[in-house]
Amino acid sequence: MTSVRTDRSTPPAGLTTTKAPFIEEAQRNGELYIQQPYELYTEDNHEAWRRLFGRMTARWQRYANHRFLQGVDNLALDPQRVPRLEDVNRFMAPLTGFRAKPVSGYVPAYLFFDCLRQREFPTTITIRDKEKLDYLPEPDIFHDIAGHVPMHTDKAFADTLVRFGEAARTAADIVAGVKDQDERVHRVTNIFKALARFFWFTIEFGLMRSPDGKGLRVYGSGLLSSYGEIAHSIDSPDVQRFPFQLEWVVNQYFEIDHYQPLLFYVDSFAHLFEQVGVLEKWMKQGKLNNVAPGEPSMSEADVKSFLEAGRAA
Ligand SMILES: [Fe+2]
Repeated sequence: MTSVRTDRSTPPAGLTTTKAPFIEEAQRNGELYIQQPYELYTEDNHEAWRRLFGRMTARWQRYANHRFLQGVDNLALDPQRVPRLEDVNRFMAPLTGFRAKPVSGYVPAYLFFDCLRQREFPTTITIRDKEKLDYLPEPDIFHDIAGHVPMHTDKAFADTLVRFGEAARTAADIVAGVKDQDERVHRVTNIFKALARFFWFTIEFGLMRSPDGKGLRVYGSGLLSSYGEIAHSIDSPDVQRFPFQLEWVVNQYFEIDHYQPLLFYVDSFAHLFEQVGVLEKWMKQGKLNNVAPGEPSMSEADVKSFLEAGRAA
């Protein structure tokens, strides 16, 4: 049966963040992995993409890491229209094997990391309201596709994500070997904090030394998808910028609702890849079992995702 829309006073919500009936229905049905129903994007949705993309272009040229700029070119993203994930994947998969995988909402932590291990990137398909371009607590397709995915066309970066997914698998296996239930939850919570903090200060908000040794460039997706913060992260005297130090990062809490006052820079993607290895080594040595308290917290679904994935030795 089809229904006829008779109320013409409000425009269709299309695939707008927090207002998309298609997403609400998928969530009600417990469907996490979905399709991208491209025909549901409204002209307002495309207009939001056009505005977001248009104002970022000059900022990317000025602040972004050159591998990101190459990635934007490689993906042939259309500045005018919300991208089709199929098109993005057609360009990306031959380069690194990564694919954007549409999801209906939050992906529990272990499942998210495990998608990375399999070179899949859980991707939000909704887009923010065209009148509210700046602050958005939720990810949207602009953050995920314009902020994250161009980096996934770079082999060294893509390999780092896979390595990170492997470290999450190691975490699940370590935790599965803990007999005492309370200790198991304590350990998974602490290791998760360390993993999430690492991810935050690198993949989401990472800076890198410029190849010429002068200055810093952005490779973190939270910065690459933020018109205001990308400039603030490099130019503002209010930001502390330090060389990446693993012992600091895993013990450093963060807050998501304002510009970051503290950022870390790596030397190269090879350096970043190597640090994931150290992270995993520390995990195996028990050095992540008691990290400093504070954000991020771990939801019940996150805990469950790790505990269900573990394979006890
Ligand atoms: Fe992100």
